Amino acid sequence: MKIYIVYDSEVGHTEKLARSIAKGAKNVEGTEVFINHVNNANIRDLVHMDAIIWGCPGHFGSISSGLKAWIDKLGSLWAEGNLVDKIGSVFCTTATVHGGIEATLLNLITPMLHQGMMVVGLPANIPGNAFYGSYYGIGVTSPDEDTEDELSHSLYDKGILLGESLGKRVANMTKIFLTGKEYLSRK
Ligand SMILES: Cc1cc2nc3c(=O)[nH]c(=O)nc-3n(C[C@H](O)[C@H](O)[C@H](O)COP(=O)(O)O)c2cc1C
Repeated sequence: MKIYIVYDSEVGHTEKLARSIAKGAKNVEGTEVFINHVNNANIRDLVHMDAIIWGCPGHFGSISSGLKAWIDKLGSLWAEGNLVDKIGSVFCTTATVHGGIEATLLNLITPMLHQGMMVVGLPANIPGNAFYGSYYGIGVTSPDEDTEDELSHSLYDKGILLGESLGKRVANMTKIFLTGKEYLSRK
């Protein structure tokens, strides 16, 4: 089972979240994880994946231009239906608690649905998710490094850790889906 994680990141917060997601996915037996900054990610690699997770820093409440430009290269894959039935999930970081996390996550999901992908979020029964997480993927507020506000740092650390739960969930859902597909193909 192959999972591709592609992220945009300038300062490193979103990369940290991407690596946490990768860690969670790798802990599921049989999972191979490929992780790339968007500048090094080849769209053709997606064809060979079972699941794709993409994320970025929220820029003015939406997808960063780096990741959006990369997503806009997916037209040929869309035309060939190459990503249909792949599992998808999304993540982002922002600087402000109400600085557009949900808007960014929802914007990240939209192109996945255009590709015919099946989007996996994070449910409320994942420990901590109902208090500081999100149901649309994983969104984390990254405090200014100079701030001494303990609550902000604590929520950041917990949010990054929650990334592992998203990776694990995507890997498990992908495994269940692939097992079902294989079963049906044998009938
Ligand atoms: C051009 C630009 C626009 C941004 N817009 C927002 C925003 O709308 N809301 C917000 O909370 N943070 C915003 N930020 C802050 C980043 O989303 C935040 O610092 C993020 O964690 C950076 O991720 P990175 O470390 O992976 O680059 C913006 C940053 C830049 C450079």
